[in-house]
Amino acid sequence: MRRVSVFGATGSVGESTLDLLARRDDIEVAVLTGGRNVARLAKAAIEHRAELAVTAFEECYKPLKDALGGTGIEVAAGPGAVAEAGLRPADWIMSAIVGAAGLAPGFAALSQGTTVALANKESLVTAGPLLLAEARAHAATILPVDSEHSAVFQALVGEDIATVETVTLTASGGGLRDWPLEKLARATPEDAGKHPNWDMGQRITIDSASMFNKAMEVIEAHEFFGLAPEQVRVLIHPQSLVHALVAFRDGAVMGHLGAPDMRHPIGYALNWPARGDLPVARLDLAAAGRLDFAHPDRARYPALALAERVMQQGGASGAVFNAAKEIALDHFIARNIGFLDMARVVEGTLDRFAARATSGRAPTSLADVLATDTEARHLATEVAVSLRHAP
Ligand SMILES: NC(=O)c1ccc[n+]([C@@H]2O[C@H](COP(=O)([O-])OP(=O)(O)OC[C@H]3O[C@@H](n4cnc5c(N)ncnc54)[C@H](OP(=O)(O)O)[C@@H]3O)[C@@H](O)[C@H]2O)c1
Repeated sequence: MRRVSVFGATGSVGESTLDLLARRDDIEVAVLTGGRNVARLAKAAIEHRAELAVTAFEECYKPLKDALGGTGIEVAAGPGAVAEAGLRPADWIMSAIVGAAGLAPGFAALSQGTTVALANKESLVTAGPLLLAEARAHAATILPVDSEHSAVFQALVGEDIATVETVTLTASGGGLRDWPLEKLARATPEDAGKHPNWDMGQRITIDSASMFNKAMEVIEAHEFFGLAPEQVRVLIHPQSLVHALVAFRDGAVMGHLGAPDMRHPIGYALNWPARGDLPVARLDLAAAGRLDFAHPDRARYPALALAERVMQQGGASGAVFNAAKEIALDHFIARNIGFLDMARVVEGTLDRFAARATSGRAPTSLADVLATDTEARHLATEVAVSLRHAP
């Protein structure tokens, strides 16, 4: 039996992971964690006979304890308990908590030499070099779960990374792809919250429309595969059937195609290094008919230039970028700022942070990363408020 834990089990990636686990009989579930969705966490813990269920919020302890009364499942609560659960022995963990809260359990699991299937984008964007060093130090494995990064990872099997010229991540272009540029400034959270191909939560769907999601993925690819900033490219591909392309020095291009279903990259990480059956729709290219590609318009998607800036600057800028993006998104959803202001918030925050004496110092610990996150959130809030009051 393989011992498996799922961090962020009540979320979209977490639930897709549980769906795959439920189809297997060689899995023993050690830990499931969630946030405020106590009913869903309790149900999953019972269904999967988890050893331990952890909610990230202290106030959810009692409802979770009550819901799991008489089941023998251990219960814990609070961010410390989530991080500690990363230390509980497991052969494979899914890191699918959203946001910076996902960092600590991921680091803890790596310190145990565990294989970490990494969906939490923030880990690589905010703490890429530290995370990879932790994995190396403990002979742990990180498997990418973002669909584009899983696609690149799969295209690189048996290849030497030194022979790669470029990696191209595809992007649907989001729900506002065909809007006239002058109308974009007036887009509402509802407009930006509709995705043409992927079924995801509101925040990540808006991040797709602004391409902040792709910008995060560009930084992730740079960190995870050790690519130079100019080696990581983005192409708009409205059908979302080609997930990534890897171009080699001999002119060959390996593409990864498949239906847009997160259970593919999750299942690949679960079965790795083997391939196993997965319950995903089979690709019918004749039915798809055509595959379109275009260069992203940089005026429409300023997030991509900001990602390049982060890759060039390195140091703490990934943590600043991520925190500022989160604050900008909060203010956009609250209708305090416009759609295009989100990039202005991130740029303004990177500028303010760069003016600090300590800005060039790379974080040397998880605590450093989290301190930068807090500082950047303050700066980003100031920038967002200043834009809100702009005429
Ligand atoms: N959705 C996708 O298709 C997709 C694809 C690739 C990568 N990703 C990345 O994977 C991660 C998860 O995405 P998702 O779409 O699954 O997010 P989601 O649906 O919002 O789920 C997030 C999970 O994190 C938990 N959570 C929220 N706040 C927390 C906190 N402070 N401490 C601990 N746990 C907390 C949530 O618990 P409750 O719901 O119980 O509050 C839930 O279990 C993100 O980093 C995302 O960028 C997602």
